[in-house]
Parts: sequence; C-alpha cells; structure tokens
Amino acid sequence: MLKQFEGARSGSKRALAERICTALTVHAQIEEEIFYPAAREVLRSSDEDLIEEATVEHATLKNLIGQIQGAGGDGSDDRYTAKVTVLGEYTKHHVKEEETELFPKLRKARLDANEVGERLARRKSELMAQSGQEESPGARSGRARAANGMTERVAARLGASISK
Ligand SMILES: [Fe+2]
Ligand SMILES: [Fe+2]
Repeated sequence: MLKQFEGARSGSKRALAERICTALTVHAQIEEEIFYPAAREVLRSSDEDLIEEATVEHATLKNLIGQIQGAGGDGSDDRYTAKVTVLGEYTKHHVKEEETELFPKLRKARLDANEVGERLARRKSELMAQSGQEESPGARSGRARAANGMTERVAARLGASISK
C-alpha cells in the first residue's frame, strides 16, 4: 500500500492513506495486546529492550497516524504527502527491525508461533471488521502461504503487506 501511495493520483491518495493508517493501527494494537506480551514471556530479560524500542516506535507511528487522520483536504498537498512518506519510511525501519532482530531471537526462544499466530489472526479479523475495512488480498494470501517458519506465520498476521 505504501508503494501504491507513491504512484497514486491525488484523488485517491487520501483513501489509500486512510487504509494504510487503519492497517498500521491494527498492526500496533495486535502486537501490543498479544505479540509483545507473548514475546516477553519467552525472551531473556536482556532482549526485552527490543520490545521497548518497538513500543516506542509504535507510539511515534500512532502520533503520525493521528496527524494524517486529522488533516483536512483531499490529501493532495505537500505536507500531507510528506507525512505519509515519513510514515512509510518509519514503518519500513520498524518492520525490518522486528523481522531481522526480534524474530530471530524468538525463533531461538521457541515462541509457539502457531498459537500466537492464531490469536493474532483472530484479533486482527475482529479489529478489521470493526474498522469496516476489508483485509487486503496480500494479507489473505499471506495467511494462505503461512505454512512454514515462524517468520512467515507471524509476519503474515502482522501485516507484512503494509509496506508493499
Ligand atoms: Fe510493530
Ligand atoms: Fe528502531
């Protein structure tokens, strides 16, 4: 969706940005409710700083999301575009750290990816239904191919499709 935004015509920018914001809000909420507590249980305390950093990054993402959702206009002005661009850059950084630093630690710590993945999927569906927004086809196909590996199983639920 973030890549789509870059190429979108101004008329569809606002709607696309709204979808990005919803997807990221759901990402942050299911991680904070389910994923991070489960991760803390299995991680060594010395690795919990990764969860702290990710939580701070979520707070910053939520702040930017608030600014984007609260902005007036149709989404075509430069400041609005800049906010969505920064949101995208920040999301890439955040997702990359989760995938390259946190996930390997959790794989070693033997997080029960099936159990956590199922809970994430259920909560995500609930929240997406509440938001009135459909899950993206990318997220659904991500689930379909989420057969092997913790990274795939969990990442598919966390919204890997946001940055595509
Ligand atoms: Fe996150
Ligand atoms: Fe970071």
